[in-house]
Amino acid sequence: MPELFSGEKITNTNRSANISRSSLYVCPVCGNIFHSTGKALISCCGITLPPLECENPDDEHSVICEKIDGEHYITINHEMTKQHYISFVAYSTSDRFEIVKLYPEGTAHARFMPRGRGILYWYCNRHGLFCQRI
Ligand SMILES: [Fe+2]
Repeated sequence: MPELFSGEKITNTNRSANISRSSLYVCPVCGNIFHSTGKALISCCGITLPPLECENPDDEHSVICEKIDGEHYITINHEMTKQHYISFVAYSTSDRFEIVKLYPEGTAHARFMPRGRGILYWYCNRHGLFCQRI
């Protein structure tokens, strides 16, 4: 029904979904996080959410990825105040999409078990989504 109202027809030809076609959405009102494995029409708080576009990290949103105790230990050099913080970090590989939620006044760290080559995503509540291959 929301598709009808938006005038946008959503068609996914791959019926089994695919992690490599993942999209992320964040509600600007309540901060709700959504993940899809194909095209989708997502709405929250009465707003239709566009899929987030991933930016290359800049100096203010750089990431350090270390191997510690056999895990990817991710550190994002970013403030974690109530006004400006990293909301989540996600690690996507061919068959898994893992999200670690972060909170204001917490630390901007996350740990993931390495599962081959993948994409690391992190989301700043003011500056949007960043990603890089790890
Ligand atoms: Fe930021």
